Amino acid sequence: RHISIDQNNHYIYINRGCSVSSFSIDMATSLFRSFLLTLCLFVIPSLSSDSDPLQDFCVGDLKASPSINGFPCKSAVSSSDFFFSLGGPLNTSNPNGVTVSPANVLTFPGLNTLGISMNNVEFAPGGVNPPHAHPRASEVGIVIEGSVYVGFLTTNNTLFSKIINDGEMFVVPRGLVHFQWNVGKVKARLITAFNSQLPGAAVLPSTLFGSSPEIPNAVLTKTFRTDNKTVNDIKLKFAS
Ligand code: GLV
Ligand code: MN
Repeated sequence: RHISIDQNNHYIYINRGCSVSSFSIDMATSLFRSFLLTLCLFVIPSLSSDSDPLQDFCVGDLKASPSINGFPCKSAVSSSDFFFSLGGPLNTSNPNGVTVSPANVLTFPGLNTLGISMNNVEFAPGGVNPPHAHPRASEVGIVIEGSVYVGFLTTNNTLFSKIINDGEMFVVPRGLVHFQWNVGKVKARLITAFNSQLPGAAVLPSTLFGSSPEIPNAVLTKTFRTDNKTVNDIKLKFAS
């Protein structure tokens, strides 16, 4: 990004990496410069997701260390590092009737540093991808088979939702809770994509009732205004 400001023939250039260089007879005041730096530090990062790569590729070496932000690059790569199968048809015989096959940096290390990933999500009839949120990415998806009720919730609890069919897309802003439900009589399938190599997923039911160690019952009974037995029954279903 490149911002230039002309103040009576004083020019300040802010380069992409947030370095500031100035070309002027009279320099901008240090106050003004600090203001721009603050703007750069706090505003520009909020417009981006994973950081941009500094080289053509950096196939992740998942076993190397240290792992600070992403993974170190593999020293020898081949074509197979850049191809991956999202699988399918997936087995959806499970209590939610949904299976997610992820292509993120952990399963497809060729994505390392590239800031992108995808999922193949398959549903049995009536299957539900339960409410969850991705802390590090917005999500865009396309239905490629079936009819799916897709919804997301804002932070003031407004639900935006629609039933969509094959060829139709949806988007979920970063960090917002969302879900999908196969409302058709046959299987359904989505392909989703993320602007992070590892978007993360906080899946609300298992986060709250299947954590290790467990969240104390006193917290959950109060939170859900219910009793110990109900909390224990639900915990049993999500015990890992
Ligand atoms: C769907 O919501 C997904 O995370 O793939
Ligand atoms: Mn999702």
